[in-house]
Amino acid sequence: MWAVPLASLALASTAAASLQIVPGATWTAGGTNQHIQAHGAGLIEVDSTYYWVGENHFNGSAFQSINCYSSTDLVEWTFVGELLSLESSGDLGPDRVVERPKIIYNDDTSTYVMWMHIDDSSYAEAKTGVATSSSVCGEYDYLGSFQPLGQQSRDIGLFKDDNGTAYLLSEDRPNGLRIDRLTDDYLNVTYTTHLFPEHYEAPAIYKQDGVYFMFGSQLTGWSANDNKYTTSTNLNGTWSSWADFAVSGTDTYDSQTSYVIKIGDTVMYMGDRWISTNLMASTYIWLPLTIEGTNASLNDPTSWILPASGPWTAGGTETTNEAESSSNTLSNGATVISCSGCSGSESVGWIGGPDNGTLEIRNVTSDASTTTTIQIRFENGDSTQRYASVAVNGVSQVVAFLPSDNGNTPATSVLNAQLESGDGNVVVFSAYEEGYGPDIDRLLVPEE
Ligand SMILES: *[C@@H]1O[C@H](CO)[C@@H](O)[C@H](O)[C@H]1NC(C)=O
Ligand SMILES: *[C@@H]1O[C@H](CO)[C@@H](O)[C@H](O)[C@H]1NC(C)=O
Ligand SMILES: *[C@@H]1O[C@H](CO)[C@@H](O)[C@H](O)[C@H]1NC(C)=O
Ligand SMILES: *[C@@H]1O[C@H](CO)[C@@H](O)[C@H](O)[C@H]1NC(C)=O
Ligand SMILES: *[C@@H]1O[C@H](CO)[C@@H](O)[C@H](O)[C@H]1NC(C)=O
Ligand SMILES: *[C@@H]1O[C@H](CO)[C@@H](O)[C@H](O)[C@H]1NC(C)=O
Ligand SMILES: *[C@@H]1O[C@H](CO)[C@@H](O)[C@H](O)[C@H]1NC(C)=O
Repeated sequence: MWAVPLASLALASTAAASLQIVPGATWTAGGTNQHIQAHGAGLIEVDSTYYWVGENHFNGSAFQSINCYSSTDLVEWTFVGELLSLESSGDLGPDRVVERPKIIYNDDTSTYVMWMHIDDSSYAEAKTGVATSSSVCGEYDYLGSFQPLGQQSRDIGLFKDDNGTAYLLSEDRPNGLRIDRLTDDYLNVTYTTHLFPEHYEAPAIYKQDGVYFMFGSQLTGWSANDNKYTTSTNLNGTWSSWADFAVSGTDTYDSQTSYVIKIGDTVMYMGDRWISTNLMASTYIWLPLTIEGTNASLNDPTSWILPASGPWTAGGTETTNEAESSSNTLSNGATVISCSGCSGSESVGWIGGPDNGTLEIRNVTSDASTTTTIQIRFENGDSTQRYASVAVNGVSQVVAFLPSDNGNTPATSVLNAQLESGDGNVVVFSAYEEGYGPDIDRLLVPEE
């Protein structure tokens, strides 16, 4: 048997980590073949696996389920199950609002505790709900809802401090943003630790080196704004004045805060880019956040690598394969069409469908044999997703493509696949269940 030192095993797994996070893209989940439905999310790590928990908006804004996905690399996600499901009546019934689920683990009771915003469709109830489970991504028992300390509560967050004491972050519309201390079992609140009189929502707290960072957005509904942060060395204050953490005027790179978490050596901002007219098409803006002392500033890479340890890196250089290139093989009705917003003003349409229109790209180049993240630029003029079977070197998977703003800049869908070193990688787009795929503009392939 080979004596493989542990250190080289660790090195091997880091070297293989060239998967990339592509903010704002369609992220297809394993197990559903759909764009991930986990909006207004929280993230929790248990035994080296990450669990992403959020709102399912597949069918619109009303409550459908709280979904849980798992991953070990934060790029390839698999649907695990619904933690809370639609019931025939009550808080989890039809036409209800169940938003911003967050989960923390109570070490004393060995219980996962979920808090969420509970409301009616006009947001008049303004309550929190609590649910518990013995398994992070298992079924949760819904305990009920109430107004914490008798105060209105809409957007919420949870923060568990190093010493185990936890807090509800709660937007109280008449009074401001609250930090409410939870009871030791995390199932109720005891008193307000701090009340910010300023009006911010979508709250998230992150702590580093004894400094608490409170992030939040302004109150502009589904539209993005310049989100703000404030710091303090005590949760009860004094807090600094609120400041931007992304470049002012970018509306936080068109996103709203949902969670902030440290992964390895990187602090990651998780935000939502809401599409209010078609909520299921809302995407996830996950970006590296630089924290220095009491300063927080958000980076905005188009794509980035989040290693298990060591600094994050930008996605780097890419080679381009144009779908309409004459070196590709188009068959069964797939054909080059004009596309004003596409590179070269052309794309390939009529992929898939009953005739199984097929686009084969034979000279996809990589400097390394590695699992990597290819960006597919596409257009989809429907209001629902399109899908394609995409085979990379013979290994097939289903990729979803969200609605895009047709005729304008193409949207992006990510394809995580194993490439071989050299220029002979083959990517084939064909039909998934006889449906038509999107119009493909081009592939962007990381060079290494
Ligand atoms: C969407 O709604 C349809 C019809 O009610 C239902 O069959 C389907 O399961 C729902 N999908 C999700 C993901 O909630
Ligand atoms: C944790 O620290 C906070 C702030 O100092 C304190 O109020 C709380 O009682 C502490 N919790 C425990 C379990 O020691
Ligand atoms: C939470 O605490 C309040 C105040 O102590 C109490 O009135 C209320 O019944 C508690 N709620 C639950 C769900 O235990
Ligand atoms: C604020 O919290 C700190 C501990 O974090 C505590 O020492 C201090 O007494 C608290 N101040 C007030 C006014 O409650
Ligand atoms: C934080 O750091 C950034 C980048 O160095 C700088 O532009 C910004 O002014 C700093 N913000 C604050 C509030 O100090
Ligand atoms: C693939 O081949 C075509 C035609 O030779 C060429 O235009 C294109 O640049 C090649 N792409 C790559 C990534 O090598
Ligand atoms: C469509 O064509 C691709 C590429 O030749 C093939 O792998 C796939 O099986 C075909 N799909 C159907 C449904 O015939």
